[in-house]
Amino acid sequence: MSHHLITFSDLCFCYPDGTQVLNGVSFQIHHGEKVALVGANGAGKSTLINLLSGFYQPTSGYIALGDTKVTPSTIESVRRTIGFTFQNSDDQLFMPTVFDDVAFGLVNIGVQGEDLQQQVTKALRRVGIEHLADRPPYRLSGGQKRAVALAGILAMEPSVLVLDEPSDGLDPKARQNLISQLEGFTHSQLIATHDLDLVLDICDKVVVLKEGVVMSCATPQQTFADLELLEASALTLPLKMQGYTP
Ligand SMILES: Nc1ncnc2c1ncn2[C@@H]1O[C@H](COP(=O)(O)OP(=O)(O)OP(=O)(O)O)[C@@H](O)[C@H]1O
Ligand SMILES: [Mg+2]
Repeated sequence: MSHHLITFSDLCFCYPDGTQVLNGVSFQIHHGEKVALVGANGAGKSTLINLLSGFYQPTSGYIALGDTKVTPSTIESVRRTIGFTFQNSDDQLFMPTVFDDVAFGLVNIGVQGEDLQQQVTKALRRVGIEHLADRPPYRLSGGQKRAVALAGILAMEPSVLVLDEPSDGLDPKARQNLISQLEGFTHSQLIATHDLDLVLDICDKVVVLKEGVVMSCATPQQTFADLELLEASALTLPLKMQGYTP
């Protein structure tokens, strides 16, 4: 499955209770691009990510990785290609210890013994949480849970990262470490976030969603220069552009 181009084409989605959320969303992610998905609470960011992960099916339109449409019959290989972290880390963590949680995907593909130990330790170290290895995930803080979820997907060395609010609840040092990890990841990324400074610092492209419609798809510089767009989309300038250091 080629991950060199991810296409969202005229994507529409309505929840079973009749809530219409996505209204013809189209954009593309080219290989190596770091794409931010921004917009007000309820704009449809997490819904779009849940469609990409196969949690829901579009009402119409499609998502494709290369030439392969995301459908129930292709979703397993989509999930092997893309590493997802979801907005609520509790949806993702279910093993008795942090080590077991990070090891889960590796064990599923047959990694064991010393290799498993090494790869899990490396992933924990990358996100700075080696000291949490023996803790039960459900007793961790929100930011710690988020770090465990990220370690779990980094351990799998995915070809694409799709992250929903990855910096939410992280302390400044953990946030900086996250930014370094994302900067160092050379494949494509889709990052739904309200952290506009992270967008400014690391993203190549910003997709602005409003009520399930793409208002703009442009560089961070172009996006943050468009004050009318920001106002209409419930966005602000990044703190850095307002003269603060985040
Ligand atoms: N299971 C559901 N059933 C019905 N409506 C839902 C469901 N989940 C979300 N919604 C609605 O879909 C819309 C989009 O929600 P979504 O979670 O995608 O927004 P978001 O852009 O991720 O917001 P946030 O910034 O708060 O994370 C909202 O109006 C929300 O109330
Ligand atoms: Mg969301």
